[in-house]
Amino acid sequence: TQLFKAAYDGAAAAIGVAESLLSKAIEENGGNATIEYPGTAYKLPVITALGSESVKTLNDIVPVINRVRSENLKEDLTLKGALSNGEVTLYAAEIIEALGYLNGKSPVTPPGAGFIPDTVLRALGVQLVDNTIPGVAVVLGKAKDSKSAAKLINELKSKGIVILLVDDIIDQLIEEGVNLGLESFTVPLGKFTQVIHAVNFALRGGLAFGGIAPGNKAAHLEYQQKRVMAFVIALGPLDEIRISAAFGAALLGFPTITDLPLEEGIPDWVISETDYEKIVPLALETRGIKLRITNIDVPIMVGPAFEGETIRKGDTYVEFGGGRTTAFELVKMVGPDEIEDGKITVHGPEIDEIEEGSKLPLGIKIKIYGRKMHQDFESVLERRVHYFINYGEGLWHVAQRDLCWLRISKDAKAKGFKIRHFGELLIAKFKSEYPALVDRVEVELYTDEKLVNEQIKEARGIYVKRDERLKGLTDESVEELYSCTLCQSFAPNHVCVVAPERVGLCGAVSWLDAKASYEITPTGPNRPIKKEGAIDEVKGIWKSVNDFVYNNSNHMLEEVSLYTLMENPMTSCGCFEAIIAMMPEVNGVMITSREHGGITPCGMSFSTLAGTVGGGTQSPGFMGIGRRYILSRKFLKADGGMARIVWMPKELKDYLREEFIKRSIEEGLGEDFINKIADESIGTSAEEIVPFLEEKGHPAMKMTPLF
Ligand code: SF4
Ligand code: NI
Ligand code: NI
Repeated sequence: TQLFKAAYDGAAAAIGVAESLLSKAIEENGGNATIEYPGTAYKLPVITALGSESVKTLNDIVPVINRVRSENLKEDLTLKGALSNGEVTLYAAEIIEALGYLNGKSPVTPPGAGFIPDTVLRALGVQLVDNTIPGVAVVLGKAKDSKSAAKLINELKSKGIVILLVDDIIDQLIEEGVNLGLESFTVPLGKFTQVIHAVNFALRGGLAFGGIAPGNKAAHLEYQQKRVMAFVIALGPLDEIRISAAFGAALLGFPTITDLPLEEGIPDWVISETDYEKIVPLALETRGIKLRITNIDVPIMVGPAFEGETIRKGDTYVEFGGGRTTAFELVKMVGPDEIEDGKITVHGPEIDEIEEGSKLPLGIKIKIYGRKMHQDFESVLERRVHYFINYGEGLWHVAQRDLCWLRISKDAKAKGFKIRHFGELLIAKFKSEYPALVDRVEVELYTDEKLVNEQIKEARGIYVKRDERLKGLTDESVEELYSCTLCQSFAPNHVCVVAPERVGLCGAVSWLDAKASYEITPTGPNRPIKKEGAIDEVKGIWKSVNDFVYNNSNHMLEEVSLYTLMENPMTSCGCFEAIIAMMPEVNGVMITSREHGGITPCGMSFSTLAGTVGGGTQSPGFMGIGRRYILSRKFLKADGGMARIVWMPKELKDYLREEFIKRSIEEGLGEDFINKIADESIGTSAEEIVPFLEEKGHPAMKMTPLF
């Protein structure tokens, strides 16, 4: 058909452009000039994943172009030929775009983001694997008008889809005032060839999470087809290169929906739909994306895309808590007779009885009855309040318990949002997310000062009791640890072993969470592992844990130790919040976090380190962790504990400070220990930090050698 012909012509043109830009670049910079994207450990990911070459310099690209030209570019007017030509176009676009980054330059103009760094990939990792983000849409071209563009994008947003934008639609959305940016899951990449950044983003999923070796093309394609739920919406005229790129997407398993009236499409791969209302449902259906259906009776949109939105003071209609007024939130388990399912009561003024800019006290009391509900789950469910409320467009929530702080925007108020709608939102969310645990939900909202002050007493009493119960929760005091294999959808050999004193490396799954999730879905990703057959109590090795891990890692892992970094440490998928790396020079370890972009004393930045430890493998001396694990009494217990920490970025120190100091006193390291730990202001190499550690008398210097 014509499309197949266009795929060939487009590929031929694209590779021609790549070739001539390359020779021009070689002429200007010399063939030994380095070519790379910023912020990735995977070089040019399209070539790394699908090709066999390791590209470092401009000269390295010459044989790549020759290879794809002779092996893949085919005047073969079949689907097979078109897919092969599509692959050529992916290579061409990757090369053209990477050339733009030569000499540290950036080819993007704001708001275009261009190449998406590895840190973003990892940050989105957890949400992609746990299906909070059900899919990724690449929307390119120009919609018939800007109103339709905004409508289409909002429809995708409300479904929680991550959206990558290319071409004129970006301007159309800006015109309509649509929120763009990573926080709203709507990322403008840039002009046409920048669409490749969606592809190299997807391919890095296989490299980073899938543990698939570079160059194993068949495995990478299979990973994309099975695990990366992406699709393309191509709007407006399609030239040959765009058509060819659509076949490149199809090669990865991503269908393209176009609003052009095509005479004949390619079933499953290039489909025409001129009715904008039908584009999104058709795309989801074609890619096989299933959404959890929740109909929430509130006048605003609800979805994870709105989670990151901030509401500034000037945009706020009313705020609650945050130290300005008294506020609390409480999930309380009740008996079947103490609750009326679905009931919402507002005790005190509603939003239309107060003035713009008011501050009100607030009490959110959520009563839950469920046959499988357990008191230990109260805090797990209460933590969800933060996420659920933030999912609301125009709602903002930070912190928890009696420290919570909330805002309702003027926009949300104008759309008709009332305080009682907090109840609607919470009831709908609790019921849809925890159907096995939650049978009845009732929400009482207090905005009357006297009542809030009364109610908060009960809440505080419950918080204290809970904390006491949690303190007693140690690895020794329980009979079962829990597995988490949620990340196997991306890292097939990865198993997290979650213990009371060790949160999962993503920081999002605690032992209680895992236990709750097991009771909710016994066949789900969290299963109990009885602690049996202690092999080494100091290093934290149990036979039962080894057996579990062996049987659930495709037989890739034989032994895991919980309390040491040096021998069979836990595997790392890709969603770790922080990474520990040994530093033999100083007899200690350093830790860097995802928030810290800079180089570290082990010679690598977070993203480069992440490239070495990720993918579900064990790398003694290196390990991904959840940040709060640093505060655990079991932190590297067999290796000497927190006394080994010689370097952490400032950001991490600040994040942990208060509790870290408490813990270091407890460990006998003194209140001042945190100040003996170097950070980026002291140095970013072993040589730079040694004098500091010596001067401060850092305990690691006198400890037994790490290995
Ligand atoms: Fe992934 Fe481990 Fe977190 Fe589970 S606990 S979601 S496997 S990182
Ligand atoms: Ni993971
Ligand atoms: Ni993870």
